[in-house]
Amino acid sequence: MTINKHILLGVSGGIAAYKSAELVRLLRKQGAEVRVVITKSAMEFVSPLTFQALSGNPVHSELLDADAENAMGHISLARWADLLLIAPATANLIAKLSHGLADDLLSTLYLAATCPVYIAPAMNQAMWNKAVTQENMQKLGTHGVKVIGPEQGDQACGETGFGRMSEPVDICNYLDHALELQNQPTAQCLQGLRVLISAGPTREPLDPVRYITNRSSGKMGYALANAAIKAGAEVTLISGPVTLAAPANIELVKVETAAQMYAAVMSRASDHAIYIGAAAVADYSPAIMQPEKIKKQEEQTTIILQKTKDILSEVAKLDKRPFSVGFAAETHDLEAYARDKLARKRLDMIAANWVGRELGGFDSEQNALQVFWENGEKTLAMADKKQLAERLITLIAERLHEKNLGEQARG
Ligand code: C5P
Repeated sequence: MTINKHILLGVSGGIAAYKSAELVRLLRKQGAEVRVVITKSAMEFVSPLTFQALSGNPVHSELLDADAENAMGHISLARWADLLLIAPATANLIAKLSHGLADDLLSTLYLAATCPVYIAPAMNQAMWNKAVTQENMQKLGTHGVKVIGPEQGDQACGETGFGRMSEPVDICNYLDHALELQNQPTAQCLQGLRVLISAGPTREPLDPVRYITNRSSGKMGYALANAAIKAGAEVTLISGPVTLAAPANIELVKVETAAQMYAAVMSRASDHAIYIGAAAVADYSPAIMQPEKIKKQEEQTTIILQKTKDILSEVAKLDKRPFSVGFAAETHDLEAYARDKLARKRLDMIAANWVGRELGGFDSEQNALQVFWENGEKTLAMADKKQLAERLITLIAERLHEKNLGEQARG
């Protein structure tokens, strides 16, 4: 493991600050150059001298200090950093960062930093679970801040729950993996992983010549299959009827109905690391397929429709489930519906887009996506579906990686 970077370590005032001393030692051992910025309340827990001795650099704490600004002011510090790591990040600091407050050196540096920012929260479990803290965390997630931990366990205050700062060695491992992923070209981020993708519409037959279908072109699913191959994955594509050419080096399984898609996906899902449900599966199918062409008779007629099985939900329920990604096409209340689907279908991630607006959606060349996961979200701005698919694949690789790291840390 090597972390050959300039790391600016922010230490805010929680009891976990004592672990940050060990963190400095470990980061330096991995080859990082470390400079420490400490808040006033953190100084109550650990002396700046400890960090100075361990980092081999002066410790920074004052925003308005002429001498310090002459030596290395806040803007130079922000420029110097390849990475800003804040460990521990207290509830108060998280609240300040999420609102853009800058009333001390650390919060000002956060605003001035253009490098990637990682935070390792640490606080009492009730403070962590408080709605406002979770809202602040979500906000930071949308601003691109990466979160390490917190972990579950006994706390210094005598309570048990989520809120313990991750161990220094786990933080180092996390950074090492994250930097490795960042340095890899997109071409590598799914190297060696099997990815199952469903794409296109389904056709639900009424009789031998008629069927119910939808406007899905399959473009997004096919673009995802191409992007996943480019990212080094082995891809299986379960496709409804479309007019697109499939990439050459994939396993292509052609299906027509929702029931066929269900069978094709379910028999393969557990052998894959990722499942992306990009198909527009019919929600209802005619209860009876008439064996002969239905004759034109009455002024009005009725077709009885039967609900189809929800493929994505069933995949996410499997014991050996892949990282499950769904799509949500909505005409209103995008976030509320997408988050509801994320929770209800127990997904790892959901990519939502508007339909029925002028740009984007079903049959278009372009689209924009709002992607949600448990503690975060990201907007993938309007782009052609090829670019958008590549961005979504990168995001999926990042989230899968973070999920795996989290599971490893929890044992
Ligand atoms: O609930 P809704 O149909 O809006 O959810 C959309 C997501 O669920 C898509 O990812 C779609 O592929 C998936 N889906 C499914 N099986 C169904 C219906 C939707 O896998 N029967």
